[in-house]
Amino acid sequence: MSEAVPTMRRILLIVGGGIAAYKSLELVRLLKKAGHETRAILTGAGAEFVTPLSLAALTGHPVRQGLFHPDDETTMGHIELSRWADLVVVAPATAGLIAKAANGMADDLASTTLLATDKRVLLAPAMNVRMWLHPAVQANVERLKGFDGLHGVAVVGPDDGEMACGEYGPGRMAEPAAILEAIEGLLAGAAGRPLTGRRAVVTAGPTFEPIDPVRGLTNRSSGKQGYAIAAALAELGAEVTLVTGPTALSIPTGVTGVAVEAAVQMQAAVRDALPADIAVLSAAVADWRVDGVASGKIKKGPGGPPTLALIENPDILAGVAAPGPMRPKLVIGFAAETSDLEANARAKLSRKGCDWIVGNDVSDDVFGSDGNTVMLVTRDGAETWPRQSKTAIARRLATRIAEHLAD
Ligand code: C5P
Repeated sequence: MSEAVPTMRRILLIVGGGIAAYKSLELVRLLKKAGHETRAILTGAGAEFVTPLSLAALTGHPVRQGLFHPDDETTMGHIELSRWADLVVVAPATAGLIAKAANGMADDLASTTLLATDKRVLLAPAMNVRMWLHPAVQANVERLKGFDGLHGVAVVGPDDGEMACGEYGPGRMAEPAAILEAIEGLLAGAAGRPLTGRRAVVTAGPTFEPIDPVRGLTNRSSGKQGYAIAAALAELGAEVTLVTGPTALSIPTGVTGVAVEAAVQMQAAVRDALPADIAVLSAAVADWRVDGVASGKIKKGPGGPPTLALIENPDILAGVAAPGPMRPKLVIGFAAETSDLEANARAKLSRKGCDWIVGNDVSDDVFGSDGNTVMLVTRDGAETWPRQSKTAIARRLATRIAEHLAD
């Protein structure tokens, strides 16, 4: 069963005139992959660089180009369009568009929309380096950033680099992936910090089960997804304890890290982090540990290799999810599967007694990669999320958690 993904957001993209406009097409593609809906306004100058047809095909909606088009105004008036959006993004933002916005000028569809919107605006400036560094442009950008509350615009980029005109310096539009990150950050911020006052425990990474003082059994979990979830929960205001096996990552800002090695240590650290409202157990806990860990290094000898006796590790997730006064309100587990994702995830949901399972399709490129394809399985349904960055998945999951706890 599938249901609509309520974390989808509506982005109004204003494409200004500049060679970087072609990168906006890629941005639309990334927004779609992240599950967001985009409508586009193309300025007259923008239409010199990309066609309305390309933008319409990628957004799946007609592209708005003028202020006085009767068809457009009867389907969705320009004021309504400016309010429809959850976020307005100007990419590329030219010196001209920035100047108009900074001075409250409204003489075309793009500038009128920027004045009429009641949502945050993100600018991705792109222009020649001399233009960008001109005090008039810098003053306009500072003025826009400094407006109070919702009216204060956010800016991503520009990047340093070689420009289409052959000069070098700041002025290149930020890369689409960086613009997407900025968008996700603003969307999360727009929702406020709904998890303020909530406590969360997150597990991440592999466990390391010792054989002797120098050897052990482990797995290839990078911990990236769990770290991103801890960061996303903290961004929404939660007090987060991240219990982590050995990884190469640093503890995200605002998160309390507890480093462990073996599953039994992870279990004890998770218990210490309770009570909590939320538990997201994403660690790849080893199923077995070595029975009778050698106190000294096992030597190579004439008797051949040693035989390792294994015993089962405690199931940390099942323990946390078991009914009792310490059970968090929302317990979320992970399931890595290569087939029958939904059925297997659902079976795991009941076996472990947790509330949600994030099913991971590991037939895709997951381990150590920055992207992931997941299915969220709850007791009421299942949703497949399109392949997106682990950060985007984490933010989406954190938003869903906040929505669930607010109900
Ligand atoms: O049983 P399986 O390992 O497939 O279950 C995966 C889920 O259970 C993950 O959320 C993982 O963190 C958790 N788990 C656990 N303790 C274990 C084994 C798995 O918390 N010993």
